[in-house]
Amino acid sequence: MTIDRSYDGGPVLGIETSCDETSAAVVSRDGLLGHVILSQDAHERFGGVVPEIAARAHLRQIDHVVRGALEDAGLPAEEIRGVGVTAGPGLIGALLVGLNWAKGFAYARNLPFVGVHHMEAHLHANSIESAAAVPPFVGLLISGGHTMLLHVPAWGDYRLLGETRDDAVGEAFDKVARTFGLGFPGGPEIEREAGRGRAGVYELPRPMLASTDGPDDPAWFDFSFSGLKTAAALLADDVRSRTDAAGFEAEVPDLAAEFQAAVLDVLVTKTRRALESTGCDRVVLGGGVACNGRLRERFRAELGGAEIHLPPPRLATDNAAMIAHLARRRLLAGESAGLDLNADPAYPFPGLTPYPSSSSTSAAVQRGSPCIPS
Ligand code: KG4
Ligand code: ZN
Repeated sequence: MTIDRSYDGGPVLGIETSCDETSAAVVSRDGLLGHVILSQDAHERFGGVVPEIAARAHLRQIDHVVRGALEDAGLPAEEIRGVGVTAGPGLIGALLVGLNWAKGFAYARNLPFVGVHHMEAHLHANSIESAAAVPPFVGLLISGGHTMLLHVPAWGDYRLLGETRDDAVGEAFDKVARTFGLGFPGGPEIEREAGRGRAGVYELPRPMLASTDGPDDPAWFDFSFSGLKTAAALLADDVRSRTDAAGFEAEVPDLAAEFQAAVLDVLVTKTRRALESTGCDRVVLGGGVACNGRLRERFRAELGGAEIHLPPPRLATDNAAMIAHLARRRLLAGESAGLDLNADPAYPFPGLTPYPSSSSTSAAVQRGSPCIPS
């Protein structure tokens, strides 16, 4: 069954519940009007997100998070003209809460609604507040679940240069933080410790930088963080075996600084390669790891004058503003989903093609993906 109401360009409600943030936002042609992000801290003591706890918390919170976003926007629910929701990827139980809530709201009010790909939304997040963060660009998506390097000649045309072969970069931060005895999420903890330490006191590998074959070798752009994570754990074990608890704690800043430097060396180098191969002079980052202060400094300093777009932290980590923003673009392009839309933990990235690919043969074109207006 489809909702046969067309979109009139008015305010769009976006909902995000793919992981452990319950978030709602309202965007209009004037930009972001209202936004609430409720982070679930119930997962901290488990050192990672517990799917069942996340889904139940979304269910408890979704009503008042949406109400809060509408209040923040100063709009009654009657003013909403379209609905967008994360349909995947993410935790299935968590996704279902947001998706079904959005369907119910859209059905009850006879509104068009669309499902949004969470990582595509991370790529669009910068352009909420920065009109210049638009294609063509090199995109680097660095979150807890994904690591992707993309060439984006136009919205909706996503050419995958490289991705992780194992752990995502945020996942590596979280797991290494745990082996260093730090809290969850690990990224901010590693960053804080690294700020008091020195890289180079200890030595960790820089994975996937060895290829000398250039862009024809998939290893040129791909990532791998699992080996680095193991190397960091073995190094921590070794340091622990030679000292007591207080002695180990004193070494954590230098360990964290070396781990952070290893990750950033890889991210900066691969992004530089992508700029050289594509001829782009603009980089757009997205995902929680883009909050990292040292990463922000290094991207600005080391990429030869390329224009670097870094989302403000509240738009880098999971948020519904990016979902509402991309949903509005899709609605403007004439898309809307039926009420049979399902949540999909492996939701395919719309318009994603392997690189290199000519636009005439890309899967995006074959599928007839609509061009999304910027
Ligand atoms: O995008 P995000 O909020 O959620 C996912 O879509 O996964 O990213 C969360 C990830 C976590 O792994 C977290 O440790 C990492 O982003 N992160 C950071 C920092 N802040 C968050 N990593 C490094 N440095 C940070 N300051
Ligand atoms: Zn995310």
